[in-house]
Amino acid sequence: MFRLMLVLLLAVSMPPVFAQAVKAPAPAYEPTVGQEGKDVVWVPTPQVVVDKMLDLAKVTKDDFVMDLGSGDGRTVITAAKRGARAMGVEYNPNMVELSKRNAEKEGVTDRVQFVKADLFETDFTKATVITMFLLPDINLKLRPKILAMKPGTRVVSNTFTMGDWKPDETAELGAGGNGNCNESWCTALFWVVPAKVAGTYKTPQGDLVLKQSFQMLTGTLRTKEKTVPLEGKVRGEEITFKAGGKEYRGRLNGKQLELK
Ligand SMILES: C[S@@+](CC[C@H](N)C(=O)[O-])C[C@H]1O[C@@H](n2cnc3c(N)ncnc32)[C@H](O)[C@@H]1O
Repeated sequence: MFRLMLVLLLAVSMPPVFAQAVKAPAPAYEPTVGQEGKDVVWVPTPQVVVDKMLDLAKVTKDDFVMDLGSGDGRTVITAAKRGARAMGVEYNPNMVELSKRNAEKEGVTDRVQFVKADLFETDFTKATVITMFLLPDINLKLRPKILAMKPGTRVVSNTFTMGDWKPDETAELGAGGNGNCNESWCTALFWVVPAKVAGTYKTPQGDLVLKQSFQMLTGTLRTKEKTVPLEGKVRGEEITFKAGGKEYRGRLNGKQLELK
């Protein structure tokens, strides 16, 4: 009798324990396109555009790629699949956790890092490539910091511009372009941080005056015979310009301009 009562007592006390053991796992976090973000909502970059952005930047295993506002981590993960080290900066902690899970699924955890942080308070000076899909006014706010980065740093933005700093290259993948991208937000814009080269230089080819607006160069070249206007570009530390019907290439070496 005592045994029976004990069994009954145990049975009564079992259900909550049992209920706990079979409790369904919490559903995985599913982001919604257009959901609020700190400064910009989440909309993912179409994968063909991510691929093109990294193609334009010629990402290799030697790069350190930083995606500012990294969403579900797709750009960071794609860069890591190309062998690069990559970091995503994302304000939404759920997206950070989702990115980590996605990186695990793709087998790239050893090369990626996702941090929960505000991109405006993040030091990205160590990046060799910056990727972003933000908004024109955010790009403009970031522009002074980006222009102060090491010359040659590559920057790629999905669709949004950088004001009067015109892109070095643009790839249109939507209906107006090669049509590979069937969604919205299908334009990849690419810039290379230019060295600051404005100034006057004495070179074997003549006296050079360079004026600079972002990567665009104007100025004059004065030889023994005449002074001619010049037009050119600076891409990282490489300078190219045309003057008097001739093409010149050069590189700033400290304060010295080496021209060919
Ligand atoms: C348009 S989505 C782009 C996501 C991803 N880069 C891509 O191309 O698929 C912008 C992302 O930036 C995040 N974000 C917004 N403001 C931010 C801030 N101040 N700091 C960090 N992340 C931010 C949003 O949560 C969102 O995930």
